[in-house]
Amino acid sequence: MAERDVTLVEVGPRDGLQNEKTFVDTALKIELVDRLSGCGLGRIEVTSFVSPKWIPQLADAVEVLGGITRRPGTVYSVLTPNLRGFEQAHAARADEVAIFASASEMFSRKNINCSIAESLERFRPVAVAAKAAGMPMRGYVSCVVECPYEGAVAPEAVARVTSGLLALGCHEVSLGDTVGKGRPDSVAAMLDAVLGVAPARRLAGHFHDTNGRALESIEVSLEKGLRVFDSSIAGLGGCPYAPGARGNVDTLKVFELLERLGHRTGLLSGALVEAAEFASRLRSR
Ligand code: HMG
Ligand code: MG
Repeated sequence: MAERDVTLVEVGPRDGLQNEKTFVDTALKIELVDRLSGCGLGRIEVTSFVSPKWIPQLADAVEVLGGITRRPGTVYSVLTPNLRGFEQAHAARADEVAIFASASEMFSRKNINCSIAESLERFRPVAVAAKAAGMPMRGYVSCVVECPYEGAVAPEAVARVTSGLLALGCHEVSLGDTVGKGRPDSVAAMLDAVLGVAPARRLAGHFHDTNGRALESIEVSLEKGLRVFDSSIAGLGGCPYAPGARGNVDTLKVFELLERLGHRTGLLSGALVEAAEFASRLRSR
């Protein structure tokens, strides 16, 4: 019997810490990642190779990747918006890279300073380089149900960008409810459209918990066949568009939900609780 039938991708060190107001010391970031690999998390998004002017919280990407203790079998991934980021990630021995697009034009411009179509073109050299290096590449779509600038996002727009990312060679596309406003009906409608262009096994759910409904979004996604979910230890992070809001859905809460529903995650609950206590202390610093 497989050790797990649902996989959690831990994004706290990247998505969580990028949204914390204060810069977390490099040594503490390294300890966080090492504690997370000790929880049985097989996929950890460690950091981003982006402009430090845009995301100063992750300016120590090289040092963090260089300092972690690599647990055999654990995949350490990073965000790379362009070829420069990819080359740095490759040199720093990341196992996987992620490119990130948006289903909303305005968010694309605010986040990566270009249109959706331009972003897919900018990712092409990253895709070519990743393939040549034999590195798996993940894709993200932001604003899959709602955009902080444009409001409701059409499910067809999400399906279009998902197709574009798969065509570039992404092995998986993570669907991001960036502002955490998904409801069971809007998430279901979005998934129905995306499942028209991609099988569930190529998709992941990435739910921010701004409105406290991320677990419901995960349940709907499970019903639609998704088996990979992104989560953040202690719900690290916040939402830059909603001051004081919760961050990504909390890893421990997702673990408990999955256990209750009878899924196997391969995670160690005691170690998760300890990692969450450690992560909470990073937040309050
Ligand atoms: P740009 O200004 O259009 O591009 O930024 P540029 O090429 O003119 O570069 C601007 C500056 O960044 C230059 O520095 C470059 O050298 C530097 P300057 O000359 O001004 O001193 N630069 C870099 N530095 C380090 N590493 C690099 C790099 N590339 C350029 N790789 C760019 C375009 C994409 C670079 C910029 O907009 C950027 O870095 N954006 C990052 C945005 C980001 O990280 N957002 C958060 C992650 S996405 C997310 O959280 C959503 C997700 O969680 C899913 C969800 O919830 O929806 C994934
Ligand atoms: Mg996110």
